[in-house]
Amino acid sequence: MTREMLICDNVTKVFTSGFIKKIVVKAVDNVSFTVKEGEIISLIGQSGSGKTTLGKIILRLIPPTSGRVLFYGRDIWKEIKTKEERKEYWRQVHAVFQNPMGSFNTFYKVDRVLNQALELIGVEPNSEEGIRLKEESLKAVGLNPGEILGKYPHQLSGGQVQRVMISRSWILKPKLLIADEAVSMLDVSTRGRIVEIFKDLRNKLGSSIIFISHDIGLSYFISDRVFIMYKGKIVEAGTPQEVIDNPQHEYTKTLVESVPTVYRKWEDFMEV
Ligand SMILES: Nc1ncnc2c1ncn2[C@@H]1O[C@H](COP(=O)(O)OP(=O)(O)OP(=O)(O)O)[C@@H](O)[C@H]1O
Ligand SMILES: [Mg+2]
Repeated sequence: MTREMLICDNVTKVFTSGFIKKIVVKAVDNVSFTVKEGEIISLIGQSGSGKTTLGKIILRLIPPTSGRVLFYGRDIWKEIKTKEERKEYWRQVHAVFQNPMGSFNTFYKVDRVLNQALELIGVEPNSEEGIRLKEESLKAVGLNPGEILGKYPHQLSGGQVQRVMISRSWILKPKLLIADEAVSMLDVSTRGRIVEIFKDLRNKLGSSIIFISHDIGLSYFISDRVFIMYKGKIVEAGTPQEVIDNPQHEYTKTLVESVPTVYRKWEDFMEV
């Protein structure tokens, strides 16, 4: 039986801002769900529905106002305290964000993001093993190490830079990967290839993935389960077939209708 890796238990996040007039936003509203080992979840919702906030709570970047996040039974906000424990958590739970260029410092060669990943797992970047791992991870995401290493981010395409970010995950071998709009800036065919790389990562490393996106069409191919988020709540959850072919919630219905075609066949999707 597959084990439960992540449990979100009644997670709520309230943001309060403004000095004179207090503005209160319930970004995440009483959300509960579980993610099993090796499972790919798509978290779909419109802008402002709370997806990134939820992702950041799971990543242990912002604390929830109430509720718990358990990773293999451990409350990440109560039981992970020391710097060492946090570092270990971020080795196991790793993020790939939307804007690939934004994740890079333009003054450094792209090698640096891989070197940092190696340092996190205690491998000297210029050692034989370090170099081997860099090459292996770039090849794993379909890149030619000779074309990538030694380059600055602006010398690569957006798709290449995004793949370098994913190759970082290959080095870290995270148990859980949170990909927040990781492919939305890419053209459709590159997007398709990168999604394949994510699937490959799951198949070869057994990682679980939370794939955050606006695109319900894309989620059809990659997810074991789809969660629809609306105004901070998960309003619907199920397999892609259940949710997309037979939406129950009004919001999901409009979401499905607004996609011109939900590509039912991967080949069709790759052809667009
Ligand atoms: N640090 C913050 N302070 C105050 N409000 C915030 C903060 N971060 C997010 N919010 C608010 O919380 C709500 C949810 O934001 P969030 O970024 O989680 O949405 P999202 O679903 O990721 O949207 P998008 O699809 O545009 O990325 C929004 O109303 C947003 O304005
Ligand atoms: Mg977001």
